[in-house]
Amino acid sequence: MHGYRNGCYRNTCWSWFAIGLLAMLGCQPRVELAYREREDTQKLPAAHQEDIRKYLFEYYGTAGTPRWMRPLPDAGAELEPVRRRDHLVLGQQVYFLRCAQCHGVTGDGNGPAAAYLLPKPRDYRKGTFKFTSTPRGSRPRRSDLARTIRLGAKGTSMPAFRWLTEQEREAVLDYVIMLSQRGQLEIELIRECELELEESDRLAADVVAERVTEIAAAWTEAEGQTVLPITHEVPNTPESVQLGRQAFMSRGCAKCHGENGKGQTEWLSPEFLAQQQSLPAEQRQQLNQDDWGQIAPAADLTAGMLHGGRRPVDIYRRIHSGINGTPMPGFADALGEEPDTIWHLVHYIMSVVRGDAVAKEAQAIVNQDPS
Ligand code: HEC
Ligand code: HEC
Repeated sequence: MHGYRNGCYRNTCWSWFAIGLLAMLGCQPRVELAYREREDTQKLPAAHQEDIRKYLFEYYGTAGTPRWMRPLPDAGAELEPVRRRDHLVLGQQVYFLRCAQCHGVTGDGNGPAAAYLLPKPRDYRKGTFKFTSTPRGSRPRRSDLARTIRLGAKGTSMPAFRWLTEQEREAVLDYVIMLSQRGQLEIELIRECELELEESDRLAADVVAERVTEIAAAWTEAEGQTVLPITHEVPNTPESVQLGRQAFMSRGCAKCHGENGKGQTEWLSPEFLAQQQSLPAEQRQQLNQDDWGQIAPAADLTAGMLHGGRRPVDIYRRIHSGINGTPMPGFADALGEEPDTIWHLVHYIMSVVRGDAVAKEAQAIVNQDPS
């Protein structure tokens, strides 16, 4: 009935089964070692497609022989490597072995296992990442991605890769960032062709170089944009939890996460979707989607796992900046005048996650008196 069962999404359990089965059969899911093009690229005039392919190749090589280049400042069309080739090759090998079956060779989130997974493996090509320490809309910091790779995303199929050597982790991290920038460049070049070029025009090398530089600059900038709490954490007392509970009810959290914090995970159930389909269109609930086009229910905070980390500062950042690419809004502006409220909310969420008496009591009070 509900998306969560035994602490994991139902479909996630299936996916582990599928992956386990493939592992037992002694074969990796068959993945072809070649980057996949966006459908939009394939709709462009042939000459523009050819240009996009040419530049993606010049800057990033192929899936089998990766490279990562950037324009040399003020040097015309000359390029220099961003990372050493052997480092990228190691990254490619780790990625192909450990990540591509879910995230796809291209990093499009569409590997052979992805069909069975919810939430979907991240499509890196938009440069949008959820578990960041940066403001909403910014790129992640390198350490944010490193943390997700090391610890995984609890409650999803994203595994923890604690046992990778540091060298392997650094290499695969760079490879993921490279795939993300490559994906962003493809999107930018499609837009450039669609909006700026006549069918007979060709993509200019300096325009491409400018895009590559801008894309990389956004990643560099993010390194200096860590969201630090405006105030020190207030003491985590029962009063703070109560104040958090009140804010949860009055500041709109409950509208999505429900008064009981259980979220909208019923949206993932086939029965619920079938029942919605049977209603006349105007009576159907509006089901929010994320930027990747998937149904995006508010998280079940009672499920005991937070995808983006359970340290107080992780939860603070989720509330302050929201979650990129998803309907979870940032409350930095709404709560700017009362920064302690974010901490109270953090304490309330922590108590809900732990299933504490205080949270249960607060929920019970509300359940008796829904006013
Ligand atoms: C079994 C499938 C699976 C495998 C294997 C896998 N991932 Fe993931 N990964 C996921 C899923 C699912 C998500 C999305 C989680 C979410 O949206 O909450 C994800 C998310 C991510 C993210 C995005 C984090 C963010 O902040 O948005 C990164 C980065 C990532 N994975 C890297 C890797 C790397 C590197 C590897 C290999 C070393 C890997 N993944 C292997 C399923 C997988
Ligand atoms: C418009 C709907 C909406 C509102 C309003 C909203 N949320 Fe969310 N929230 C979401 C969605 C959707 C997610 C899941 C994002 C994802 O896909 O990872 C989420 C995720 C979260 C998470 C992260 C859970 C995890 O797995 O790490 C926390 C914590 C959270 N919300 C707290 C709050 C608080 C506190 C408020 C009010 C201040 C709030 N939310 C308001 C929709 C909402």
